[in-house]
Amino acid sequence: MSILLNRLSQLLTFTGQLFRNGRSLIGNRHRGGALTLHIPFSKDFLFRQLFDPVSSTYTYLLADIINKEAILIDPVIEWAERDKTIIEELGLNLKYAVNTHMHADHITGTGRLKSLLPGCRSMISHSSGAEADILLEPRDRIKFGRHYLVVIPTPGHTEGCVTYVCDEQGIAFTGDALLIRGCGRTDFQGGSPEVLYKSVHENIFTLPANYRLYPAHDYNGRTVTTVAEEKLYNPRLSKSLKEFVEIMNNLNLPYPKMIEKAVPANKVCGVFEVNKEEGKQ
Ligand SMILES: [Fe+2]
Repeated sequence: MSILLNRLSQLLTFTGQLFRNGRSLIGNRHRGGALTLHIPFSKDFLFRQLFDPVSSTYTYLLADIINKEAILIDPVIEWAERDKTIIEELGLNLKYAVNTHMHADHITGTGRLKSLLPGCRSMISHSSGAEADILLEPRDRIKFGRHYLVVIPTPGHTEGCVTYVCDEQGIAFTGDALLIRGCGRTDFQGGSPEVLYKSVHENIFTLPANYRLYPAHDYNGRTVTTVAEEKLYNPRLSKSLKEFVEIMNNLNLPYPKMIEKAVPANKVCGVFEVNKEEGKQ
């Protein structure tokens, strides 16, 4: 009987470890090594992934279904009306429009959303150097209803990049710090391959293996990844620091077409565009 109880306790300890962080499922490049246990969304947590096909940007609408408070992550100015319609149709109140960083490839929708949905406040990291109603500091909590995201600095693509983590749902919004099987470029806006490598390895790859990662973009039709998948299969960040720096310093990418327009506008969180429009009226 005592042997049986001992075995049962060993099994429960193992299962506990598995459910706590899924780490025991990874580490080897064997078949299924990237497959982790799924953490389901809470019933009162709304998650919508929206897309801009021009810049391949994902915008995320999150909300507390019970108290109706909502936030948007990385809205795009051309889609502000779409976002407003969804928010209104679902009977939600947009509390914050949040950016993961100062984008160079599109203008943020935060400024336009503030005028479309009065009461909404813009957010971006203090370290981004951009203006917003609320400048976020490391470990700040973005609260909506009973839910919240924690602000984790992940610089390297830009100086002010942050990742937003929701531990209860087992998800993180990585911006351009980590893309699915890729990462943001590091050759402008204070970017640095060494800093990005450290950010991802110390702040994203240290999250539980089964956390789902939602990036700011995907150019190949993929929508989500996990910590385990990226640790194994990210063709850049699974390499050594030396190899990563070599890869990033030899991308030879063209300058983004939108940068001249997007960065000045995003420096004021898109309010630039709103003022221009208001001036026309
Ligand atoms: Fe970016």
